[in-house]
Amino acid sequence: MSFTADHIIGVIGAGTMGRGIAQIAALHGHRTVLVERDEDTLLAAREQLDHFIQRLSAKGKISDQDAVAAFGNLHFSTDLSAVKDAGLIIEAIVESLEVKQSVFKQLEEIVSKECILASNTSSLSITSIARALEAPDRCIGLHFFNPAPLMKLVEIIPALQTAEACTMACTDLITAWGKVPVVAKDTPAFIVNRIARPFYSEAIRIYEEGMAEPIDIDRAMTQKGGFRMGPFALMDYIGHDVNYKVTETVFEAFFYDSRFVPSFSQKRLVEAGYLGRKSGKGFYDYREDAEPLISTASDQHLQDIADRIIVMLINAAYDALHYGVASRDDIELAMTKGVNYPKGLLAWAADIGLQECVDHLDELYDFYHEDRYRCCARLRADAVNSSTSS
Ligand SMILES: NC(=O)c1ccc[n+]([C@@H]2O[C@H](COP(=O)([O-])OP(=O)(O)OC[C@H]3O[C@@H](n4cnc5c(N)ncnc54)[C@H](O)[C@@H]3O)[C@@H](O)[C@H]2O)c1
Repeated sequence: MSFTADHIIGVIGAGTMGRGIAQIAALHGHRTVLVERDEDTLLAAREQLDHFIQRLSAKGKISDQDAVAAFGNLHFSTDLSAVKDAGLIIEAIVESLEVKQSVFKQLEEIVSKECILASNTSSLSITSIARALEAPDRCIGLHFFNPAPLMKLVEIIPALQTAEACTMACTDLITAWGKVPVVAKDTPAFIVNRIARPFYSEAIRIYEEGMAEPIDIDRAMTQKGGFRMGPFALMDYIGHDVNYKVTETVFEAFFYDSRFVPSFSQKRLVEAGYLGRKSGKGFYDYREDAEPLISTASDQHLQDIADRIIVMLINAAYDALHYGVASRDDIELAMTKGVNYPKGLLAWAADIGLQECVDHLDELYDFYHEDRYRCCARLRADAVNSSTSS
């Protein structure tokens, strides 16, 4: 099984993600059928895709001819049966298991036996989506990041039932589309959204304990950590409704493991309707008359904050490695290409020194006596091995 440009790609859902995925497929020469149940949304998607593709040619990123061809590859429909000849269908509809299962069942009745059925879900189990199918071995997760045309990473998630050939065909196709594929075990939040949790949760914890203000913590992570955006600015940008929901879902999916516990500060922001940039207020105030904020934290304080959040991220990366969520290389690629981390977390641990990371986590654990600060067994073992081998 392998894909060529002759294969038709079906995309279900013309929201944020569906549009981006359709754009990628069309630009790579596939006849692409975008299906959306809401007519106005479909029209808006058509206009936006036309605009985006024209902009690419105006900026000289593609030729005028390629722009015309790409837009010509796009077909729009409100009828699910429009994807009947597709070789691959990528679903990007509402994040609900029942709705996704129902759409996958309908698709199975429409398409050929060879057609691969993929979901772009961020948090649902691919195995449980596949369960709805007569032939679950053709079901897979293809998790693109937002904005899909720009973000290089795609997490490929085979369900327990997925055929090896299906995973290989999707990996090859994603590579041919100029993306970076990483294979993730079908576990909650896959790779990126699992490992990145402490970026937000430890930052909020530091703030809630009164150790620093959001502006200081953001400064620590950008200036000392080298991240493009600080955690509070990023949460305000994503929107607290979205970010809080992901945290809550991950917490539940990990059987309420205290490492993933959501925060009251963020819950209250959601309750107040302070959703971040989009509502004019979140952790920061975005209104025109808002007082500019100044961080007065010392250099050492900023370093301590960054070190603490980074060591928690390293621990999460080691945990994912320990439980075989992905290979060492894929964990590194996922965090650098999926969320633009300045360095792979496993390489970062080696730069800091594995034993230093263990000691830092043990210090936090000794102080708090909370499970969230437990050091991953793999990190501890690797620290011992690296000290005996050197
Ligand atoms: N937004 C992100 O940052 C992001 C990133 C990665 C993955 N995801 C995942 O991608 C999926 C879509 O997210 P989104 O942000 O694009 O959502 P969205 O709300 O922007 O778009 C979903 C679209 O699907 C349409 N839809 C719903 N049911 C349908 C059906 N039965 N048939 C056809 N169209 C239908 C809706 O009308 C809507 O236009 C979700 O599973 C989400 O978890 C989102």
